[in-house]
Amino acid sequence: MRVAVLVLVVSVSLTEAARCVPTSSPQCYKNSTKPDEDFICEWDERNPEKSQTHILHIWDTVKNSFRTHVKCSKPAQAYLHLEELGTPSRKTDIWVQTQVGNLTCNSSKTSVILECMVKYSKPQIIRMKRSAGILNITLDKPTDNKGAIYEIRWRKRDSEWQNTTFETKDSTIKDFHILHLQNRTIYQIQLRRQAILRSHPCKDSLHALWSDWSQMVDVPSEIRRRPVIRCVEKNPENGTRDIHLSWDAPLPEESVGGVKYILKLLDWPCHKTKKKKQTTNQTYNTSITYSEARISIIARNKVGHSPERHIFIPALKHLNYCNSDMPSNIPKADNNTCLEWYKLEDGETRPKTVNSSNNILLKDIKNEVDHFVRHYYFLHIKRNKQYQTVVMCPFYSKQKAPINGPANVNISDITHESAVVHWLSIPVVEQQGFLQHYVIWISGQGNTKFHQVPANKTSFLIKDLHPGVSYTVSISGRTEAGNGPNSTVNFETHSKEMGLSWQDQTILIVCVVALLCTIICSVAARRLKLLPDVPSPVVDVAEFRCPEEQDQRWMIEEVHEFILLLHQDPGKRRENVTPEQSTLLQDFGLVVFEEEDEEDGEGGVSDLSSIKSCCYPNPSYRGQMLQLPEPFHMTDSTSRDNDTESTYRDGLFFETRVLESLPSGTDQLNPA
Ligand SMILES: *[C@@H]1O[C@H](CO)[C@@H](O)[C@H](O)[C@H]1NC(C)=O
Ligand SMILES: *[C@@H]1O[C@H](CO)[C@@H](O)[C@H](O)[C@H]1NC(C)=O
Ligand SMILES: *[C@@H]1O[C@H](CO)[C@@H](O)[C@H](O)[C@H]1NC(C)=O
Ligand SMILES: *[C@@H]1O[C@H](CO)[C@@H](O)[C@H](O)[C@H]1NC(C)=O
Ligand SMILES: *[C@@H]1O[C@H](CO)[C@@H](O)[C@H](O)[C@H]1NC(C)=O
Ligand SMILES: *[C@@H]1O[C@H](CO)[C@@H](O)[C@H](O)[C@H]1NC(C)=O
Ligand SMILES: *[C@@H]1O[C@H](CO)[C@@H](O)[C@H](O)[C@H]1NC(C)=O
Ligand SMILES: *[C@@H]1O[C@H](CO)[C@@H](O)[C@H](O)[C@H]1NC(C)=O
Ligand SMILES: *[C@@H]1O[C@H](CO)[C@@H](O)[C@H](O)[C@H]1NC(C)=O
Ligand SMILES: *[C@@H]1O[C@H](CO)[C@@H](O)[C@H](O)[C@H]1NC(C)=O
Ligand SMILES: *[C@@H]1O[C@H](CO)[C@@H](O)[C@H](O)[C@H]1NC(C)=O
Ligand SMILES: *[C@@H]1O[C@H](CO)[C@@H](O)[C@H](O)[C@H]1NC(C)=O
Repeated sequence: MRVAVLVLVVSVSLTEAARCVPTSSPQCYKNSTKPDEDFICEWDERNPEKSQTHILHIWDTVKNSFRTHVKCSKPAQAYLHLEELGTPSRKTDIWVQTQVGNLTCNSSKTSVILECMVKYSKPQIIRMKRSAGILNITLDKPTDNKGAIYEIRWRKRDSEWQNTTFETKDSTIKDFHILHLQNRTIYQIQLRRQAILRSHPCKDSLHALWSDWSQMVDVPSEIRRRPVIRCVEKNPENGTRDIHLSWDAPLPEESVGGVKYILKLLDWPCHKTKKKKQTTNQTYNTSITYSEARISIIARNKVGHSPERHIFIPALKHLNYCNSDMPSNIPKADNNTCLEWYKLEDGETRPKTVNSSNNILLKDIKNEVDHFVRHYYFLHIKRNKQYQTVVMCPFYSKQKAPINGPANVNISDITHESAVVHWLSIPVVEQQGFLQHYVIWISGQGNTKFHQVPANKTSFLIKDLHPGVSYTVSISGRTEAGNGPNSTVNFETHSKEMGLSWQDQTILIVCVVALLCTIICSVAARRLKLLPDVPSPVVDVAEFRCPEEQDQRWMIEEVHEFILLLHQDPGKRRENVTPEQSTLLQDFGLVVFEEEDEEDGEGGVSDLSSIKSCCYPNPSYRGQMLQLPEPFHMTDSTSRDNDTESTYRDGLFFETRVLESLPSGTDQLNPA
């Protein structure tokens, strides 16, 4: 059984190896109508065998003989040289003999007049232009530059082909074809072509060979809108501004087949032609000088381009003064320098056309330009392919004093001692040089004061004036060449004001308002009990001590007048004090106490210490007072002129007077 299978396999492989499959019948042609062109024959190999050889046989059917046998060089292809063929205008039979091992087989014969076998290369679409529903296709010419028959087919995506043929003429440079297409629709197109054979034996169109189809191309619709471009400028640094440009892609039906963006940059002022950049990215970064730059962009697809979008990056704001010097490392002008200069008529506006040159420096033009007119210049350099502005400055070839003084000089805020003068700055055209400062003269009462004001100021406060005096203010601009004419204005200071100045009034009003507020608030607080009650001190009588240094200020002195009648015998004085008098004194002491208490409650302030220390009677007070002791007789300080004794003790002022007139004798006691 196994042996049988093996035999079968071997026999199958043997028969396979022995098979000879013929090729397709060969197609022979030349690639132009030129008579001296060689031919090429092509066929399809259908035999999978590797080690096969092919021989091309060309049989002259008129002479009945072989013209030639060609061993093929390349697989499935053989060249027929014209010399080997003799006259190609006779009918010939051509076939391919295939040899596989010991076996040979022949392809079917093809019977042709070789002369008529012309197959052009496939057409190339050089350019397409689509607009207003028309597609204009530009095609390459065949190698013989002859007219040809073309077939073109086109379709909307995923729909049926439509086709048509057209013929082009000899002796044109390019072939065009116009196709009418629907607006805003994507199409696909393909073309092929055929030679037009005019020689006698080839009249039969059967012999004409179509070229291969050209590659299928997508036809986008035309780009209608100019790109929307965004420009971000980074802060200028070291004479260079980094520019980041970005833009939107066209609509999808316009972008089919790819979009390229073409930027044109005019970023080096000494170049008169724009630099062209092509990119498929939607961004572009570049660096430019401080001078003006112009950039334009178009979006290009296979059938055309969008309208152009221009952007303009203005120069940096003009400086009023030159604050940088010519760098010393640029001794001479060359292709990497660019001097740009122009007249600044009004000090601000850059003119439409500016001068620029890459072989001069400022010193070469400094004295060439108009005198007394402000000019502006830039010096740019190219360094490592980066553009950089080294200097930008205004300049004058020669300076003069200003033509006019400042305009609109007027005075405001006049008081009795000051006033403010305002003016409009002198326009650059009238300056004729760099304004260094304004000079102000103030004359009045026969003397003149003089001030210099920085050129960027347009007002000045005049101080230290006298009230009610008429003054004249003259103001002029000064350049390095001197002062310009004066602009003059007169004014009179106010006479000295009697009332309060407004500052004083304000302060006064503020004070009054503050006071009112305080009062209202405190009253309201008490009424509404907004503030917590100050607790009345819990007085421990035992703790009361009146310190030595009594603060008399806190005493409310009250004068009670009473008379003590004494016996002539001073020795009995003590016993004569009546209980009523003692009570009186006792009452008095309480009166003092109560009043202090009242005051404490009213003020709500913490003068408790003073009250405590000074005003509460010493516990021993009552006893002392009640007994009206020795103090009545004491002290050297009391005057005895009128037989009066005065005593101050324990917060009470006693005056003791002996009235002689009264027989019984009376002491008047005035406690305070
Ligand atoms: C076809 O044309 C090309 C260029 O025109 C040429 O190089 C080539 O030899 C031609 N082929 C044949 C078979 O004549
Ligand atoms: C091929 O031919 C040689 C002699 O010419 C012969 O020996 C051989 O067997 C042949 N092979 C086949 C597969 O016929
Ligand atoms: C193939 O063609 C050659 C040349 O004409 C001839 O000698 C040969 O017999 C042919 N072979 C077959 C199988 O027809
Ligand atoms: C296509 O658009 C153009 C204008 O862009 C217009 O003139 C033309 O009539 C349009 N054609 C069709 C078929 O809509
Ligand atoms: C097609 O385009 C070519 C140039 O590319 C132009 O000469 C020709 O006039 C155009 N044809 C039409 C119909 O616009
Ligand atoms: C269009 O193509 C068809 C099929 O390939 C063909 O029969 C017909 O002749 C072609 N028409 C033109 C005008 O070329
Ligand atoms: C500018 O110049 C300074 C000093 O020459 C340098 O430190 C700095 O990096 C430069 N900046 C740029 C953006 O080149
Ligand atoms: C632009 O596209 C190229 C490739 O096409 C890429 O290498 C390059 O980094 C891109 N540049 C920017 C700035 O995106
Ligand atoms: C400057 O440029 C001009 C023209 O572009 C060129 O002829 C000249 O040789 C260049 N000079 C230098 C120093 O590179
Ligand atoms: C005026 O110029 C001085 C320096 O000359 C400058 O410090 C000042 O900021 C400037 N004032 C204005 C308002 O430009
Ligand atoms: C401007 O006025 C001042 C003060 O009156 C005077 O000294 C000065 O000469 C005047 N300048 C001119 C140009 O008239
Ligand atoms: C004595 O008292 C009388 C009347 O009160 C008075 O006028 C007189 O100046 C007093 N004498 C002295 C020395 O105070």
